[in-house]
Amino acid sequence: MHFTCTTPLYYANAAPHMGSAYPTIAVDCLTRYYRLLGYQVLMVTGTDEHGEKIATAALKQGLDPQTHCDQIAAEFQRLWQVLNIKYDRFIRTNDPRHAPVVQEFFQRVWARGDIYRAAYEGLYCVDCEEYKDPKDLIQDLCPIHRKPVFLRQEENYFFALSKYQTALEEHFARHPDFVQPVIRFNEVKGWLKEGLRDFSISRAAVRWGIPLPPDPEQTIYVWFDALLGYLTALLAPDDEPCLKNALAGGWPAVHVVGKDILRFHAVYWPAMLLSAGLPLPERIFGHGYLTKDGLKMGKSLGNVLDPFALVEEFGADAVRYYFLKEIEFGQDGDFVRTRFIHTLNADLANDLGNLLNRTLGLLRKNCNNQIPTVTIPLTDPLRQQTEAMTQQTAQAYEGLHFPRACESALEIARFGNGYIDQRAPWKLFKEGHRVEAEAVLYAVLEAVRIAAVLLAPVIPELSGRIWSQLGFAPAAYAQLTWATTEWGGLPSGQTVAQAVPIFLRLEQETLA
Ligand code: MSP
Repeated sequence: MHFTCTTPLYYANAAPHMGSAYPTIAVDCLTRYYRLLGYQVLMVTGTDEHGEKIATAALKQGLDPQTHCDQIAAEFQRLWQVLNIKYDRFIRTNDPRHAPVVQEFFQRVWARGDIYRAAYEGLYCVDCEEYKDPKDLIQDLCPIHRKPVFLRQEENYFFALSKYQTALEEHFARHPDFVQPVIRFNEVKGWLKEGLRDFSISRAAVRWGIPLPPDPEQTIYVWFDALLGYLTALLAPDDEPCLKNALAGGWPAVHVVGKDILRFHAVYWPAMLLSAGLPLPERIFGHGYLTKDGLKMGKSLGNVLDPFALVEEFGADAVRYYFLKEIEFGQDGDFVRTRFIHTLNADLANDLGNLLNRTLGLLRKNCNNQIPTVTIPLTDPLRQQTEAMTQQTAQAYEGLHFPRACESALEIARFGNGYIDQRAPWKLFKEGHRVEAEAVLYAVLEAVRIAAVLLAPVIPELSGRIWSQLGFAPAAYAQLTWATTEWGGLPSGQTVAQAVPIFLRLEQETLA
């Protein structure tokens, strides 16, 4: 069973910001979950390096486009390392193996009779790399970038998108989960209802791109180039670069994209694939924006949050946790510093961290740091809660409901805190009820162990620290599978490590 999941290929016009980190964290979390399930996983990410927007950005820096893209791609890779992103493929659309794939694809669509030449005039936003419909403009500005659009007129090659109206309608009807969440699918269906218009897939005045096979005076439009990056990325290192090999490398994929580029992924891309006679993506998930004062955080507006600085200050797991737990994936969400600190303290330092710490303290005092030999009955409430929450977490991951996944795992820790308070094992030890007291400690530590597995896709480092405190060797954590969520995996007799807080409380700054 394979699971291929892609992030968008980020424009190499500027260094990454938190808005570009956010979808990548989500895809990393999802693919880590599928790795735990035992799927053969490919996580694909990369950079979109051709076109006018990139050439202009390079010029502004006084660099040639290639050098500029090398620098930006390196920054993205550095950020993925800092954020602990476990990607398998990083595709740069400037990779020499990409152009033959795009050109082969173009030829297939051309042979199908779906490409024609015509004159076009329209209002263009370079930041979107898209012609805009005048009715979508806000005070004559691009609604996303709030920048002027320019009247353009050129002879271009067009893709006959309108031919695929019915085929797309049929595909959507047959695949009710093709686009998620439902509100986004409705949006996509709405575009289809308005009627599809052919779009231009070449540029006459842009040199930084892939030459159009029948007319090398033009270059291929960045989107007709970048979307193919998802296929090039699937080539094995020594594969001949062609569509057949790419498709064999793990297609179809699940795409995770922001709502601003949903139309390209859910309408243009499937139609292009239908025209080329190739299978469609498995599923497309359209998420919301990280916002600042209600506006999309972005390079063009300059209202960005620096992920490097956040990780430097709080660590990768804290950043991953906040954005996954606090923002419903699919909706917009703001970064609020006080809320960030509060969430991490409440969930990771208190609910989860304290529970582990205090229980290990009792184990040191009463059991010589050894996991006791006990059997916890099926009817034990903490065991039952843990088993129920494990199922809920799995369902949540499958639906990309990251806040609910975190919440379900956390619920185990909250229940565990109540359970230990109520049963008061410290008192039971004192009163000589050793068997009962040991059973409480075992149940709590086992629950924490399982909660750590459930959270491993979100906070891989921290979950690893929990496992090592419970006495497991690093190799055991490195080979983690979802099967380890089964109750009873904590071996009796295992010696635990010294208890140190797994997550230190963060201090709220005193407000002036
Ligand atoms: N290059 C195209 C994608 C081509 S995919 C074949 C592109 N690049 S982008 O860098 O502008 O955006 C990449 C992704 O980052 C998009 O899905 C976009 O929605 C996402 N985000 C950029 N800023 C964002 C926020 N502030 N919040 C959430 N996601 C954001 O589009």
